[in-house]
Amino acid sequence: MSEPPHRRRAHARGSDLERYAGLFAARTRVMRSSAMRDLMAVTARPEVISLAGGLPDTSTFPPQTFAAQMTRIARESAAEALQYGPTEGFRETVDCIVEVMGAEGMLPDPEDVIVTTGGQQAIDLLCKTLIDPGDAVICEAPTYPGAIPVFCSYQADTIQVECDDEGMRIEELEAVLDALDGEGRRPKFVYSVPTFQNPAGVTMSLERRLRLVELARAREMLVVEDNPYGLLRFGGEPLPPLYQLDGGDFVLYIGTFSKILSPGIRLGWMVAPPPVMDKVVLGKQASDLCTSTLTQYFVREYFAAGRWREYVENVAGIYRSRRDAMLDALGRHFPAAATWTEPRGGLFVWATLPPYIDTSDLLAKALREDVAFVPGQAAYVDARGRASMRLNFSAGGEEEIREGIRRIGKVIAEQVELYGALTGERAAVPDPRPAEDAPNVVPFKKAEGE
Ligand SMILES: Cc1ncc(COP(=O)(O)O)c(C=O)c1O
Repeated sequence: MSEPPHRRRAHARGSDLERYAGLFAARTRVMRSSAMRDLMAVTARPEVISLAGGLPDTSTFPPQTFAAQMTRIARESAAEALQYGPTEGFRETVDCIVEVMGAEGMLPDPEDVIVTTGGQQAIDLLCKTLIDPGDAVICEAPTYPGAIPVFCSYQADTIQVECDDEGMRIEELEAVLDALDGEGRRPKFVYSVPTFQNPAGVTMSLERRLRLVELARAREMLVVEDNPYGLLRFGGEPLPPLYQLDGGDFVLYIGTFSKILSPGIRLGWMVAPPPVMDKVVLGKQASDLCTSTLTQYFVREYFAAGRWREYVENVAGIYRSRRDAMLDALGRHFPAAATWTEPRGGLFVWATLPPYIDTSDLLAKALREDVAFVPGQAAYVDARGRASMRLNFSAGGEEEIREGIRRIGKVIAEQVELYGALTGERAAVPDPRPAEDAPNVVPFKKAEGE
């Protein structure tokens, strides 16, 4: 009798793996695993406080609303909702997307929209459409950690431009563009998360937005604006999205329902001019034929009820309190030499520790204390980011966040002590300070000359 499949899988992980080695495509050699996906396996343990994921708090979505919409779909449109749909997505879903984009001041042509399996698929389809091995792609440093495995899979030459607390440094971008120009190269696109960025939590200033769009037009260069967090604002006035400033000629747009409704429904979208869109549609046909019909029906029903903005405002209020809890805890438990961002929306704080601390090593120690974060290196294609970490404040409650930061602070203090003992330098051990003594939040990195 042959072995059961799970036994065979166990073998394949060991020496039998060589049997397959000759079969793998060249691109698999440069494929990278997503740091968050890897961490999810560890953080699934109930005792672990995870500040690692980018998970919205789906327990805030009213189950009775979910039940009512799904029941209605089952009763009134079961056969259609269980069927395949058009590759571009249903017109009704696109109407919901136009409404979401309208809430941020954008007016896309519905014909330019494709419904995708999450924003993640939109990034993948765009790369599939535009990237040949070795092509230059420019993104922020740090960038969305989930974009890096995509750029790697398509064997892009990924160039990262430093960010500060006003977003991507456009002067540096111009220098990179000039250098590429000198080599006779043109980047396929500049990928940016300009609003409440993942992972740094920073927002690109209006001045830089205008300059980026100006550059795109002057150099006929595509800019991809990925904007999952724009509506998760904790206060202040919104800045115009790049797409709005450009009008959709050179700025392609990626959006998602993941953070304003649910990531489980796997619905996102891309807006692109017709020549690009035609190719993207072909790419999507080959990938998955169409996005889930069932969840598109769910979104349609949900939007018809007309209360989606109310939910987004409610959830943004919850995240604002959690951000405050995290910033307060950072002030109490992180060493004085650490800096961190103060996001005005979104899901993440980016903290930077003294340079002798490697956050990948620190994570192993943190996991022993049952707490997790994303090491900064996950947001870079090169060796930068070693002393930084991404901290999520949307997934857990305020007490959990405070306790998580306390535990991370404890392992940092041990590292600082150890460094002090090894080098003879006086260790600046973080004392748990009362709130009134907590230092002000230190900005990410001050812009110079801009
Ligand atoms: C910047 C950014 N883009 C894309 C995604 C992918 O989201 P989804 O595929 O759930 O829409 C995320 C998720 O965290 C993100 O932060």
